[in-house]
Order: sequence, then C-alpha cells, then structure tokens
Amino acid sequence: MSYQVLARKWRPRSFATLVGQEHVVRALTHALATGRLHHAWLFTGTRGVGKTTISRILAKALNCETGVTAEPCGQCAACVAIDADRFPDYVEMDAASNRGVDDMAALLDQAVYAPVQGRYKVYMIDEVHMLTGHAFNAMLKTLEEPPEHVKFILATTDPQKIPVTVLSRCLQFNLKQMPPGHIIEHLGHILDAEGIAFEPPALRHVAKAAAGSMRDALSLLDQAIAHGAGRIEEDQVIQMLGTVGDDHLLAVFDALRAGDVPALLAVADGMAARSLSFDAALQALATLVHRIALLQYAPQAVADEAERARLAPYGECFDPEYLQLAYQIAIHGREELALAPDEYAGFTMTLLRLHAFRPEQPPALGSPDARNGGGGVERSAGSRPASRSAAESPAPAEPAPPSHARTSQAPQPLPQSVQAPAPAPANAGELAAAFAAGDWHALQRSLGLGGMVRELAQHCEWIGCDGERVNLRLSPGHRHLLDLNPGLPARLGEALAAALGRSIRMDIRPGEIASVTPAQREAAEKRARHVEAVAALESDPFVCELIDRFDATLVEASVRPL
Ligand SMILES: Nc1ncnc2c1ncn2[C@@H]1O[C@H](COP(=O)(O)OP(=O)(O)OP(=O)(O)O)[C@@H](O)[C@H]1O
Ligand SMILES: [Mg+2]
Ligand SMILES: [Zn+2]
Repeated sequence: MSYQVLARKWRPRSFATLVGQEHVVRALTHALATGRLHHAWLFTGTRGVGKTTISRILAKALNCETGVTAEPCGQCAACVAIDADRFPDYVEMDAASNRGVDDMAALLDQAVYAPVQGRYKVYMIDEVHMLTGHAFNAMLKTLEEPPEHVKFILATTDPQKIPVTVLSRCLQFNLKQMPPGHIIEHLGHILDAEGIAFEPPALRHVAKAAAGSMRDALSLLDQAIAHGAGRIEEDQVIQMLGTVGDDHLLAVFDALRAGDVPALLAVADGMAARSLSFDAALQALATLVHRIALLQYAPQAVADEAERARLAPYGECFDPEYLQLAYQIAIHGREELALAPDEYAGFTMTLLRLHAFRPEQPPALGSPDARNGGGGVERSAGSRPASRSAAESPAPAEPAPPSHARTSQAPQPLPQSVQAPAPAPANAGELAAAFAAGDWHALQRSLGLGGMVRELAQHCEWIGCDGERVNLRLSPGHRHLLDLNPGLPARLGEALAAALGRSIRMDIRPGEIASVTPAQREAAEKRARHVEAVAALESDPFVCELIDRFDATLVEASVRPL
C-alpha cells in the first residue's frame, strides 16, 4: 500500500471542512447562494493556507450537477472528477512555469469554446504574479469581457507584483496565516482519525515550526510519524525539528540564577551534542524572557495555567530590568550568530553576556575554585578548557565592594531589584572627604552599589560638581547602559545622596575618558595580579617539573591569582 502524504489525503473538499478563512467562506457562500457571481477572483496569502484548496471547492460549487451551490455534493461525476484532478473544464495553470504570452494565448484560445462537461470553464492561474507583462496584457482583455461560461481564479503569494489593471478587475480575498491553535486542533483531529497516538505538546512544536502554513504543518507531521515509528512524542519532535525544548532554556535560567558558569556552558555543550539549532535556541530564549517579563507585569496575559506555574519562580527571582536587558542580549546574540567565528562560540558568548550583566548577587555557586583562587595547570588539550576558564573571569570574579553581603550559599533568588542600597557603612567622614576630593574611585566603591548601577558607576570618571549637580563622564563604549536604562543616573544619584545626606542631581554624559575609570583601574590591577601569578607559577619548582616531565603547558588564561 502506498502512503499518501497527509496534506493531499486531508485536503478539505468542502467549505465546511476548511480550517479558518471564515471571511472568505462567508463571502463565497453568499455569492453562490444568491447567484451573484463575479467572473474573476484573486486569492492572496502565504504558502499552504488554502488558495488551491478553496479554488477547487469553488470549481465544484460552480459545476456540481446538483446545481450551483455552496455545498457541492462531492458524489456527482463533476465533483468526483474535480477532486481527482481530471475534470476537463477545470484547468490549473502554474504561472511560474508557464509565464509567457504564448501560454496565456493558448489558454485564452481555449476559453472561447463552451465547456465540455460542466457549466463553467474555470481557469485557476497559480502564482499569477510570475506572468510576463505581455501575458498580463493578453489576459486583460478577456478579464474585461469574459465569455459567460468562463471564470478565472487567480492565486498569488505576492500580490504586490500584480498590475493594478488586473487587480481592479478581480474580487480580492486575502487568506490568513493559520494561527497555531487552529493548526494544533487540526493535527490532533487528523491523528485521531488516523489512529496515531501522540503527546499533545508535540503538536505545539510542529505548529510553531510550521509558521502559519497548514501544508508545512502536515508535511512535518508526516516526518514525525516516520521518525517516531507510528507514535508522536514531544522529545522526538524536538529532536526532529532541531529546536530546543524549554528544559534546556530553563536550565539556562537556573544557571544564571546560581551564577554557575560551568552549568551554563554545559547547556551549550548538551545542545551541540544533540545538534540542536543555536539560532532557534536564542529565539526561544527571547520568547521565554518575554513570557517571564509578561508574567511579572501582567500575569493574566499568560493564560496557560501550567506555563504560569512553571515560570513563576523565575518571575520572582529575576529583576524586571535585567529581563529587559536579557531580552536585548538574546536578540542581538541571534543577529551576531552569523558574524561569530562559529555558532557554538556565538551562542556561548551570548550566554556569558547574560551572565556578565546579571545584577550583583550572592557569591558564585557551584564553582568553588572561582572563590578559592589558585592557579591551574592543564595539559595542552583542545581549546575548550582554556576558553572556559577564561570565560569565568569577567564580572563575577571582581572583588565585591566591602559592604556587600556575602552570606547565602544555596541557589538563592536574586534580590528583587537593585535599588539604591542601604546607607553605606563606610565612615561618613571618609565619604565626605572623597566627595570633596573628587575621588570617584573611593566614592563609588564605598556606595556598595549593585547590578547595573554599579556597572554604570564603574565606567564613569569624575568631572566635577557644581552645587547639587554632579557631572560624570561615561566611557563611550558603555553608552548602551544609558540607552537601555535611562533611569540609571538618577538611581546612582539617589545612592550618592543617601550616603552623603545631601541632595544630588546626577548628570552623566558619554565622552572620551581623560583619566581612568574604576573599571579600567580594576582591570589593570587584575592584569597585574595575573601576570604576577603566572610568573610565580612559572618559577614554581613543582610546576616546572610538571612541564618538563609531562610536557604540560601552562594555560595562562586559567591562572587565577590568590
Ligand atoms: N485552510 C485550510 N484548512 C485545512 N487544510 C488546509 C488549509 N490550507 C491548507 N491546508 C492543507 O495544506 C495543503 C495545501 O494547501 P493549498 O494547496 O490550498 O495551499 P496554497 O495556499 O495553495 O499554498 P501554495 O501557495 O503553496 O500553493 C492542503 O492539501 C491541505 O491539506
Ligand atoms: Mg497552491
Ligand atoms: Zn456534485
């Protein structure tokens, strides 16, 4: 027995079984019922939404032996022949392969003769935008004054390319993309009828991948059936589509929450091992961030009870501002994927960026060596270990301000927000002195800032103060902080005001840095400590012996100063 693909087997044969497109069905039904028949219709819409299908139903409606009707019988010779694609008076012409004026002339020559079997000759010209200008012109005259017995159905995915002279002679219907809900329901119905068991969430993935095309959805379903040996499971479908399940993505959020870089990278490795698409993963990641943000601001917008329950813990532990940033990072990461040395690198850099921009929080977990410091000696293996260690060093390894609470050990929810901190414990006299001296390094450190406010403060230099107004210059490479979050300067101002006990108006503008920002100074200090640590290791007799005896290499990037 040969297998008939689902799209063909399940092509709707009546308006009643068509999914969606109610606006078109209503208009056509009305016209057929009242006998007010146009002579040329134009169906527009993306692939696989029902253009050809509706055209065939319409041909039956016009030629059914029971009379012109919105409910063709499906049994008579005409209906059967049209369904079987062998009705002499229904002609489908593919304009993509018959573009020229000769093809059109041949068709129009035939049109003048009376129908062979039916009531009307129906010409369906598919992808009509592909016709040449001459072919359009040849058609125009017939469109203006068609013989009584001729009906034209034009279909296109690209109506922009059709001359207005043609458009104006047609009754136009825009078919809509299939909403995921319609697709899911239709697929479920078909699977039930075919007696194929399925996990409902699997259909969600298929519907999403089909992007509004019922034909694509059915083709994917064919594949899934073949793949799953007659049973459709979510995991299999995910694997088949090369998309990422939410599990992977939630693992990303768990790792971010815990500040656990190895776990973050393990997600990428797991995906690489299963050849999942990094592009799709970033897209899904942005979608998920969007859902979590929605949950924070408008819980009722997340209608699905189960989804709400699943996402709620993340909604509680991530700062709304961080989610805004994370969304941008995911989207830009996707854009940059094409520019990355390879997709794995592009994806992991994006994950690391998500990590680097987390608000300040409890100390990193799950990576004790990140806290203990100490050098690392590794055999010169592939590049992965080196890049991984290097990756751990950015933001989290920076010394925290002295005032910062470093207590909790388990994966804790992040603080809800990084508002102006509690008054800095630093000695008020010191603070005032630093302020008077314009010592921004000392000043910002003693504020005990967190998150993006700290990020901002670290990339600024002091210009001066003028009454209440404090002027800072932001290094131009970090102006995005202001773009992303215009409220940051005010928050920095509040923190300073609270610490000094006086009112402050913060004025921060990007510009070339003349001195050194706290971030630059810290980076320089860190480099210096690193160089020292490497030098110390290189002169360490034990290390030297390792290098000599085992041909080991010192992976400098993995060295962390004590
Ligand atoms: N509205 C719909 N309801 C149910 N099934 C549909 C619908 N639209 C498309 N399909 C399914 O997809 C298949 C292809 O549809 P159809 O040929 O009508 O698409 P089309 O709009 O002509 O697309 P294309 O531009 O690719 O030719 C059908 O055989 C049917 O199985
Ligand atoms: Mg078609
Ligand atoms: Zn019939």
